[in-house]
Amino acid sequence: METAEIARRFLSFFEKNGHTVVPSASLIAEDPTLLLVPAGMVPFKPYFLGQRTPPHDTATSVQKCIRTKDIEEVGKTSRHATFFQMLGNFSFGDYFKERAIPLAWELVTTPVEEGGFGIDPERLWVTVYLDDDEAEAIWRDKVGVRPERIQRMGKEENYWDMGVPGPCGPCSEIFYDRGPEYGVDGGPEADEDRYIEIWNLVFMQYERGEGSGKEYPILGELPKKNIDTGLGLERLAAVLQGVDNIYETDIIGRVLHRAAELTGTRYGDNQEQDVMLRVVADHVRSAVMLVGDGVRPGNEKAGYVLRRILRRSIRNLRLLSGTETAFLHELTEVSIDAMKDIYPDLLDRADVIHGVIDTEERNFAETLRAGTALFGRAAERTRAGGGTVFSGTDAFQLHDTYGFPIDLTLEMAAEQGLSVDESSFRELMQRQKDTAKADARSKKLGNADISLYARMLEGAGETDFLGYTESESESRVKGIVVDGVSAPAARAGDKVEIVLDSTPFYAESGGQLADTGTLTVDGRGVVDVEDVQKPLPGLFVHRGTVRSGEVVLDDTVHAGIDTGRRHAIERSHSATHLIHSALRNALGPSAGQAGSENRPGQLRFDFTADSALGGERLAEVEEEVNTVLAGDIPVQTEEKSLDEALKTGAMAMFGEKYGDRVRVVEMSDYSVELCGGTHVPSTARLGIVKLLGESSIGSGVRRVEAAVGVDAFRRLSKESTLVGQLSEQLKTPREELPERIDSMVSRLRAAEREIEKLRAAQVLQAAGSIAEGARRHGAALVVAAPAPEGASGDDLRKLVLDVRGRLGEDEPAVVAMTAVPKDRPVVVIATNKAAQKAGIKAGELVGIAARALGGGGGGKPDIAQGGGSDATKVDEALRAVEERVARG
Ligand code: SER
Repeated sequence: METAEIARRFLSFFEKNGHTVVPSASLIAEDPTLLLVPAGMVPFKPYFLGQRTPPHDTATSVQKCIRTKDIEEVGKTSRHATFFQMLGNFSFGDYFKERAIPLAWELVTTPVEEGGFGIDPERLWVTVYLDDDEAEAIWRDKVGVRPERIQRMGKEENYWDMGVPGPCGPCSEIFYDRGPEYGVDGGPEADEDRYIEIWNLVFMQYERGEGSGKEYPILGELPKKNIDTGLGLERLAAVLQGVDNIYETDIIGRVLHRAAELTGTRYGDNQEQDVMLRVVADHVRSAVMLVGDGVRPGNEKAGYVLRRILRRSIRNLRLLSGTETAFLHELTEVSIDAMKDIYPDLLDRADVIHGVIDTEERNFAETLRAGTALFGRAAERTRAGGGTVFSGTDAFQLHDTYGFPIDLTLEMAAEQGLSVDESSFRELMQRQKDTAKADARSKKLGNADISLYARMLEGAGETDFLGYTESESESRVKGIVVDGVSAPAARAGDKVEIVLDSTPFYAESGGQLADTGTLTVDGRGVVDVEDVQKPLPGLFVHRGTVRSGEVVLDDTVHAGIDTGRRHAIERSHSATHLIHSALRNALGPSAGQAGSENRPGQLRFDFTADSALGGERLAEVEEEVNTVLAGDIPVQTEEKSLDEALKTGAMAMFGEKYGDRVRVVEMSDYSVELCGGTHVPSTARLGIVKLLGESSIGSGVRRVEAAVGVDAFRRLSKESTLVGQLSEQLKTPREELPERIDSMVSRLRAAEREIEKLRAAQVLQAAGSIAEGARRHGAALVVAAPAPEGASGDDLRKLVLDVRGRLGEDEPAVVAMTAVPKDRPVVVIATNKAAQKAGIKAGELVGIAARALGGGGGGKPDIAQGGGSDATKVDEALRAVEERVARG
């Protein structure tokens, strides 16, 4: 049974039994305690904990999951994967063990013709937790499992939790017996390789606290008794497809076999290579799914998981092929194709997925080239000195200069029998991080030492902020800083920081950008203020340049802000509050603010959310904001105690520190927020708010951007003109444009497919005349020629095999052909049986040709493939093959 069919059957079985089908959540976990989703229940965690009311009492899903804890086991066992899919059924206080157990049994054992998985009950065993008599009784009496097939297991096996504080409970598992050829008798407790776990039923009823491993306190019972089950889709596929391990199932197997073909190896020939092929097949798929969900390679968190997976794939491919050829593009394509039945949206994202993976592969090739030489020298030095420990300083340099992930250094060192001084490596990393943080702080605050500001604050007191009501003031200069030190005066051209006793300038905070403007000393000088920061609470530092004259300590200056800019910023800030409320109305209170930036005419607002809002809901949010603002609600501010403000339901920003007295900004009761920023007097001033789109900026955090006022109008007007032009060009009324473009695109696609077919046919047609061009070199007939223009890698292989067929078996024959798809030369060489008998090996010839092309390649004696980077060397490569054959 195909993997996709197993998933369909699972969902439809539970749907028939009253469950709501819930689509898979993104791999990027919303839950801040997790990096990536490791289990099917993760999206439902708030329901188990009673933090949110579930929209339905029961649910079923196929959830994408990533686990990298056992990444070293991948390929070595029959069942470890970094990406896998978990089929699950869930009950949020609805049914419990008495229904979960019989349902699972029914689905697993119902014959295939009747919609089940048709597994022979004689092959099944079950386990229950040590003291779970209730579960045992259900299996025995209600389901009819023979008592000797039910085993009790301890906490390690039969108690499930998320590895972090949260819901947990005892569980019961179903095992499949693969048969005596896989191990000893005696059920799951005797042999976990012969008896493999396929389904875990968790009776989720407790909440656990902090702890390590299985040592943690039970904090109490959950509000309700729940069910969470997890059936490993890949494992079940292996069972139902009668293959030995998950890597050989229909979906993962396709990548595995293609990887073998490309690297010129054969799966099943050699255990070490088999493991590498399985690693590649697993990792490529994980990378595709991660990139598809928006993860990008990086050095931290989920980005690092992805980078590590990709780099492991590349290294294994290099070890397998013995070349530096880039294979990921093709394997990515196969993986997307294999997964598209279950995740059709992968096709829409294929270009992005390829782009990200190709770039990482190219970058890593660079990294490897440069870093491997350094590694070699350092390893040599270590050994020459009689040591076995690769130094932390070298590992750090590899990381810092060449971007070598530490895992790679560990692996390469292990291959040479060396260990790595990891603790000094980590120490150096930490030191670097601390320095970077200090740097970032000083960039924002200028060069001055924080103690300088502390002295100023002590001497001058807090700056009196007048900017809520005033845009100008007469103020006194209380401090001047030039080049990071306190100065009595600053002159024309100086970069300066100035502290005043009072100011109308807003200092950047709460997402609102600082004001700009001027400080004028009557008749003597002007300072352009470009930025204002508060390095310490209450101390406003005006940063800018002395445009003319000078400014001296104790001068009285006329401080004036750019009011047009300030008003534009205020419109953005007020719009941010409205958008925040509208988003909460659409998504519920979980849509918390996670950051914002209010610039003149534009804003961005980050918030936490499980999933994308999508075009339709985004349009609703936008409409709500515009309807509300047109109601011309006055914007009022009031100072209150923090307690009082929170009691009235004011929204505070998560993670933000507030004093006892807070400022509350209210737009009737539609929006009430704690906020120190400045705002428009009434909402109609915003004119219009246009949302510009939504994106993901990391785990569970999304971003909307918007234009406000005239900026919004300009955008709309520009778009309207554009649509007008399109309508004219396509001679189609505006409202019919989408269908018209749709049909044009599908026709274009069909035509492209047709051209592709014709082109491939044309290439193959050439086989006859190419075969006629065979010449004798030494004892063999040789065809050495470039393929017709435009041939793809696949065409090339087909063509070479076709030509070989035409040369017959009477005498030794070799066919060597090249093509240049996507600007990179590829060579494929095939030999007939007679040639192989005469000792002519395709693998060896490809090595010669590929070297001429500036790359490498390899393969089996009958057919092999290679590639390089220099397309101008194609003729040279073909001649080299002829000469080699001629020499015999
Ligand atoms: N949460 C359990 C698991 O991951 C069952 O879904 O195994």
